[in-house]
Amino acid sequence: MRVGILTGGGDCPGLNAVIRAIVRRTIGKYGGEVIGFRYGWAGVLTNDHQPLGLDEVSGILPRGGTILGTSRTNVYREENGVERAKETLRSLDLNGIVAVGGEDTLGVAYHLYQDGLPLVGVPKTIDNDINGTDFTFGFDTAVHIATEAIDRLHTTAESHNRVVVVEVMGRDTGWIAVKSGIAGGADLILIPEVPFTVEEVCDVIHKRHSRGKNFSIVVVSEGASYPVEENEAPELVLQSKGTDAFGHVRLGGIGNRLAKMIEEHTGYETRVTVLGYTQRGGTPTAFDRVLGTRFGVLAADLIHAGQFGKMTSLQGDKIIPVEMAHAMECIKRVDSELYEVARTFFG
Ligand code: F6P
Repeated sequence: MRVGILTGGGDCPGLNAVIRAIVRRTIGKYGGEVIGFRYGWAGVLTNDHQPLGLDEVSGILPRGGTILGTSRTNVYREENGVERAKETLRSLDLNGIVAVGGEDTLGVAYHLYQDGLPLVGVPKTIDNDINGTDFTFGFDTAVHIATEAIDRLHTTAESHNRVVVVEVMGRDTGWIAVKSGIAGGADLILIPEVPFTVEEVCDVIHKRHSRGKNFSIVVVSEGASYPVEENEAPELVLQSKGTDAFGHVRLGGIGNRLAKMIEEHTGYETRVTVLGYTQRGGTPTAFDRVLGTRFGVLAADLIHAGQFGKMTSLQGDKIIPVEMAHAMECIKRVDSELYEVARTFFG
């Protein structure tokens, strides 16, 4: 059995755990071989690959990032993309490819599967927004990093009687914001799923200060938005114009905009911390290492069994294959019950 692996989209902690597990399972259980494509789908299109043996994956379990590199290349945006991918697969005599990625990478994998290629998906992203799995690996690490940051910001906010706005990633969903906000004891959490106005934000801060608190921590997800003018539609804050190969805008900057508004409306000194890529970097938590490892083992088994078009998923404490199509149905948004728990502590 010969297996190809690629990692696509934004990197996240736990990718190397998946790569290691696929290699160890394929060699150890099936006596097979593994090759890794460099830089996501770009490596498949240009047949840029490297052999992955036991030596190559030794010691990589605690390492962040991906030893294969990653990119946001979209096969369907490249000339003769599908033909070139098919040719690579033929020339390397692969039984199948494991695509480790978020909604975009898995979307390409799913369409290639529909176009007749033997693909298996492994869901990853710090955003935790993939439908069909309870959790993606990378998310737990991001939440830990954000929680630690919120803890640290508490002490400085309290010392200076300041409002601190913490901007976290998450794209169109507020999972990182809600989980780290609850864990870090945030006084307000703003997410894309729940509309808000600046007036409501300021009311919450006023309420808190009126009961004797001189500082507040506001966690805001990069994809949250509010109407800049009364009766206008909420407006996303972008870092730059244009979109990536999958049509995504580059989010970022709501923290600064909101902090300015809070200071203007309340008179409280307000500062901002944007956590940015620190949430994606560094060593994975034990949870993400274990989840990535379990996904990798199942992915190797699925290739061996010829179960293509499937994606590994976590359901409760079980790792099971689901149709990759599930991941395409919608993105997984924060459920209202979880946000209601967070709301208990606002103000
Ligand atoms: O999907 C993971 C993520 O980190 C998002 O939270 C964020 O919006 C995006 O990737 C940033 O993408 P890039 O690495 O292209 O700047």
